[in-house]
Amino acid sequence: MTRQIVHLIAAARPNFMKVAPLWHALAGSGDFAPVLVHTGQHYDANMSGDILADLGLPDPDFHLGIGSGSHAEQTGKVMIAYGEVAAARRPDWLVVVGDVNSTLAAALVGVKLGIPTVHLEAGLRSRDRTMPEEINRIATDAICDVLWTPSPDGDENLLAEGVPAQRITRVGNIMLDSFEMKRGAIAAAAEPTALDLKGDYAVATFHRPSNVDDPIKLAALVACLIEIQGALPIVFPVHPRTAARLQASGLDTQLGAAGIRLIDPLPYVRFMSLVAGARAVVTDSGGIQEETTYLGIPCITLRENTERPITVTEGTNRLSDASGAPALLRAALRWRGEGALARPEYWDGRTAARCLDDLRRRAGMLDNVGRRLAL
Ligand code: UD1
Repeated sequence: MTRQIVHLIAAARPNFMKVAPLWHALAGSGDFAPVLVHTGQHYDANMSGDILADLGLPDPDFHLGIGSGSHAEQTGKVMIAYGEVAAARRPDWLVVVGDVNSTLAAALVGVKLGIPTVHLEAGLRSRDRTMPEEINRIATDAICDVLWTPSPDGDENLLAEGVPAQRITRVGNIMLDSFEMKRGAIAAAAEPTALDLKGDYAVATFHRPSNVDDPIKLAALVACLIEIQGALPIVFPVHPRTAARLQASGLDTQLGAAGIRLIDPLPYVRFMSLVAGARAVVTDSGGIQEETTYLGIPCITLRENTERPITVTEGTNRLSDASGAPALLRAALRWRGEGALARPEYWDGRTAARCLDDLRRRAGMLDNVGRRLAL
């Protein structure tokens, strides 16, 4: 039997752990063959290559090498480069993940070429249109043929925007499949020991322009971390954007002088080992809000809103500004062990299998003349 070709687009650090479980499920399926397309939006080894290797992904079949640039440049360059690949190869399916510039760019290419295009992690909304990722989410969901959602709020958001119900399938949270896939390696990595951490510690990660690009907000963030450091020692793997801003303002020296451990970004397995051992996390990441809920670790998110509200209503996540975070952190230190671990439905490590089932079901709905989805 001829295998149907599925292009999987990976671009930036948060994409790789969403693509990997699906790549493995497709590769082992017998009826589908995954083709990995790396746009190159993230290019440093510890933001990209090491993470691919960690997750057992092969070298990408196509590397578009687009690199950094303005949003317009990144989106446009991916459209041009992927447009050539997609037109020449005409895959049976295209799957885009998450909400980065490459997600929207590749989706635009796919749907315009009439390739059945799927968005994995569809339906999330922060309702904050100043956030570039929110624009990417809204636009991607509006054009994709199939929308795979992680949680009921995703389905509700899409239905409210007029997306026909038959396009939507709730598959669950694919990122947690990566965690389960690597659970043994994560335990064995013993990153806290490797970093010589004795006793409780917090992990901090920040990269959003809204927190790090404005010098006043960055100074407030640094003051917040220094206050938290008084209650719980912090390890801070620093994203390249944040490293540049901290160095430019000399605030990295202040953090170091307060005893905060600034380290390079870590590959997936080592990073999850560090998070899994943490007493609390302070972040502005999207994915870490979900991983801490899955692990039952208190997470304080320095943002005004989240596109992942289920991590607050059912999980361990709390939103705060920089001035409120230290008090929330101290409160979190008091609720050790309270209550049972609550995990949203379908956050169970079996999302890739549900994606494969849905793809098989929908493959039966393809009109064999134009390869369009009969929706
Ligand atoms: C991008 C995504 C964001 C995601 C984040 C995770 C968009 C709109 N944003 O933001 O959704 O949460 O990635 O990391 O797509 N840089 C490096 N090495 C790299 C990558 C970037 O040094 O491998 C530098 C760039 O040169 C730039 C800065 O980091 O100065 C920001 O990178 P960029 O890709 O523009 O966006 P992110 O802020 O990482």
